[in-house]
Amino acid sequence: MDRLIVEKSPPLNGIINISGSKNAVLPIMAASILSSGEVKLEEIPRLEDVLVMEQTINAIGLEVEEEGNNLYIKSTNNIKCEAPYELVRRMRASFLVMGPILSRKGRVKIALPGGCNIGTRPVDLHLKGFSALGADIEMGHGFVEASAFRLSGSKVYLDFPSVGATENIMMAATLAKGITIIENAAEEPEIVDLANFLNEMGARVIGAGTDCIRIEGVEELKGTSHTVIPDRIEAGTYMIAAAMTGGRVTIRNVEIEHLRPIIAKLTEAGVIITINENEIVIDGSNGIRHVDVKTLPYPGFPTDLQPQMMSMLSVAEGTSIIIETVFENRFQHVPELKRMGADIKIEGRSAVVQGVDSLTGAEVRATDLRAGASLVLAGLVAEGRTEVIEVQHIQRGYVDMKGKLERVGAKIR
Ligand code: EPZ
Repeated sequence: MDRLIVEKSPPLNGIINISGSKNAVLPIMAASILSSGEVKLEEIPRLEDVLVMEQTINAIGLEVEEEGNNLYIKSTNNIKCEAPYELVRRMRASFLVMGPILSRKGRVKIALPGGCNIGTRPVDLHLKGFSALGADIEMGHGFVEASAFRLSGSKVYLDFPSVGATENIMMAATLAKGITIIENAAEEPEIVDLANFLNEMGARVIGAGTDCIRIEGVEELKGTSHTVIPDRIEAGTYMIAAAMTGGRVTIRNVEIEHLRPIIAKLTEAGVIITINENEIVIDGSNGIRHVDVKTLPYPGFPTDLQPQMMSMLSVAEGTSIIIETVFENRFQHVPELKRMGADIKIEGRSAVVQGVDSLTGAEVRATDLRAGASLVLAGLVAEGRTEVIEVQHIQRGYVDMKGKLERVGAKIR
């Protein structure tokens, strides 16, 4: 499927079930390299990115077997020290295998991930952590090599609470000798899920979810089985879709705690939200008021929901200010939304969004997965027909978006 055709749809109504978290399962699959036993992962999302990570850890020497939404990963004795360039190039998250290989094998050679549409996305903080743990780092020809007879625990300060750097260093530290402290660590729920997984394998990680994580190295990690957390960004995407179409949608299989920032912002915008055990009901029938949004590391408002919020605020009443503080170039969706009639002005990292009465359907291009989602959402409320091309970006991060939206009344194919 290379495009999605979206027509103006009635207010969404019905039930949407959320899948397992992409950004939790990817580091957890990388962490399986550390285990000398068998790992069983349950509720994994069937996504392109998960497939690429499966291929990556398989190429490194792990046996990987799928069974429905379960994944069985078995360690072997021939873990390789090199990650295949063509896989790392395709997906930045493959870089998360670096810490586990370094820690398990004492040496690793991996391609530097390229930039992407939302920014240069360097890995300097990952490498700063590995050298703090005693690794020698060499870069050249687009590759980075790290080696250490055995990593030894140390204190690492992250200049920015990078999610990937926190995960890579935490994983490397689990088999290092002694204690590692990561200061100014990222606090995302996916970090906590990874830490829980590592501890289930016998690691000693405390403090995940706070800005200071302490890891005491152990000799070996064994197998375990683990169910990944629900995808809070997928949930937030459909909460926004329900709100902006004035619909009433029940979203199931969520961790309410992980949704606090989006619940707060939608409530501020006039959306009626009812919270039950592990489901949330979104009622947008009162319309949407303008709100200001500033993206920040967790528990601030997630950058991964900024494009979707911008679509909603494009048709809200009044003027909203959106400030993107996490990535230096995450406004790629703005020119596409403007082609649909949105009134948005960019000033550096800020966007001034003036709500308009309605958008008009157009042919638009998905530049990354969240920008693609924001264009589909805009198409739900735009007059006429919207064609979103290059939807392969969307399929990387959303399980069956078309089906899930269709089942709540969206006109999408
Ligand atoms: C993770 O990416 C997520 N991906 C991203 O989700 C998410 O947007 C991001 O965290 C922020 O929440 C996965 O978990 C697979 P970062 P990551 O390292 O780890 C700078 C999606 O849509 N930085 O926290 O790459 C970097 O340039 C994706 O699902 C350094 O400067 O994000 C960026 O400006 C998109 N040096 C900022 O930190 C480093 O060494 C945040 O990056 C590392 C990062």
